Amino acid sequence: MGLLLPILLGFLAALIGGLYLLGVFRQRRAGEPPLDKGLLPWLGHVLEFRRNTLKFLQRMRQKHGDVFTIQLGGFYITFLQDPQSFGSVVKESRDKLDFTKFAVHLVRRVFGYTSIEGEHNILQMFSNKHLKGDGLELMTQSMMNNLQTLMLHNIGSAVEERTWMDDGLFNYSYNIVFRAGYLSLYGNEPHNSEGSEKKAKEKDRAVSEALFSEFRKYDQLFPNLAYGVLMPGQRLEAQRIMEYFWNSLSVQTMKTKDNISRWLWDIQQAKEERGEKESAISKYMFVLLWASQGNTGPSAFWLLLFLMKNPEAMAAVKEEVDKVLKEFEQEVQPGGPLINLTREMLMKTPVLDSAVEETLRLTAAPLLTRAVLQDMTLKMADGREYFIREGDRIAVFPYIAVHIDPEIHPDPHSFKYDRFLNPNGSKKTDFYKAGKKVKYYNMPWGAGVSMCPGRFFATNELKQFAFLLLVYFEFELKNPDEKIPEIDFRRWGFGAMQPDRDVQFRYRLRY
Ligand code: HEM
Repeated sequence: MGLLLPILLGFLAALIGGLYLLGVFRQRRAGEPPLDKGLLPWLGHVLEFRRNTLKFLQRMRQKHGDVFTIQLGGFYITFLQDPQSFGSVVKESRDKLDFTKFAVHLVRRVFGYTSIEGEHNILQMFSNKHLKGDGLELMTQSMMNNLQTLMLHNIGSAVEERTWMDDGLFNYSYNIVFRAGYLSLYGNEPHNSEGSEKKAKEKDRAVSEALFSEFRKYDQLFPNLAYGVLMPGQRLEAQRIMEYFWNSLSVQTMKTKDNISRWLWDIQQAKEERGEKESAISKYMFVLLWASQGNTGPSAFWLLLFLMKNPEAMAAVKEEVDKVLKEFEQEVQPGGPLINLTREMLMKTPVLDSAVEETLRLTAAPLLTRAVLQDMTLKMADGREYFIREGDRIAVFPYIAVHIDPEIHPDPHSFKYDRFLNPNGSKKTDFYKAGKKVKYYNMPWGAGVSMCPGRFFATNELKQFAFLLLVYFEFELKNPDEKIPEIDFRRWGFGAMQPDRDVQFRYRLRY
């Protein structure tokens, strides 16, 4: 008995400690948001959240209102769903709300890369330098050349000219935009190593095709990889693909290329100067491939599909594209030079801009997460205040709170190509909720410290792709009555959404 009591007490203490760690004893304190722990200790609501994030968050919002804390896989996350109060999260100082802590964790799990001190500063510095202003001009020009290499290489070859080609629209759009984006960032095959420009371009096409095929395999594993629930066989496959990319995007491989973007070049150099190992830099190149190529292709698909399903929108965009070509004295002619779509021309397309923004409103659904570094008060626009605990997380899911809010965007599930246009043709930025102007009226790029640095380049990529397709090709859905596919609900929260199935279309050169 003398020995049993301490053992029992020890067991009890361990049990209580374990339950405490599992979050079983956490109670809502005065001044905190409503707390919903879910039924499963520690896991909380993770299964329902993972199954369909959108549906789950809509249910929670209905139950608790626009601020609530839920338990998810060991974390307590406060969701803020009032767009008027988003500034309190996205503008909060970095010593209270931190983006990197969460990102570092995810990047290690999903890409096998361990971040170094000051990494985010390097990324921001060179993104500011090369993904905006003059740097963007170079990147856009490079994208144009690569799109031409991929889309227009059959021009003049009697065999394929004017033959209808069948493909899945998702597959085609993702394939072309991924490959052109990859070549623009990671460089081209040098002409002299292949013997001629023609051969070098052929190699670019073959290499980028192989990369796209592997990227899509990874893409399909991605949601489960991010949640850490891959089956053992899938885990091996993910590891194999990661190694393939570490190798294909290695510093050594990149050094053999021409036209590497200054963005990646400078990031590589800065990391080398900080003494980071070459193998680690190669892994980071895969992280950036993911960030830069995982969203634009799927968005290109939605843009084309919405245009094809809305003849009025298609006609308005086509009219604008033809007008810009004329204004810049360019013409697509059989046997003539390829058109050169410059950044200046891309700045004269308000209708296409609005169509792109509307596409992203309907199909980009990121989940923005911050780690709470110290106890803080969340101040709402209407004066409410909530106490938030250190160690928790705060998240914003703008898709529900903004993108499909019928007050901000009437008839929110319809594609209206001119939703972001004023009657005088300028960009519309005035949107209201309960009579008050909403600052964050569309958030495909996130906001604050982690806002997508590639947003200007991505927009140009989408516009260039649509522009070239419109002027050089005839294209149509195989089934004109095709329904717009549903969004693949496993991907809510991961940026640009993908459809749950592809849609068949056909295309051929106009001339
Ligand atoms: C339609 C296309 C795109 C969409 C919808 C998109 C969306 C986003 C979003 C929502 C984030 C923030 C994630 C967060 O806060 O957790 C992000 C981050 C990022 N994006 Fe994009 N993106 C796109 C294209 C691009 C392109 C083309 C590039 C590069 C050329 C790029 C580079 C990045 C990088 C490097 C980050 C990480 C930023 C950081 O850690 O501060 N993105 N993107």
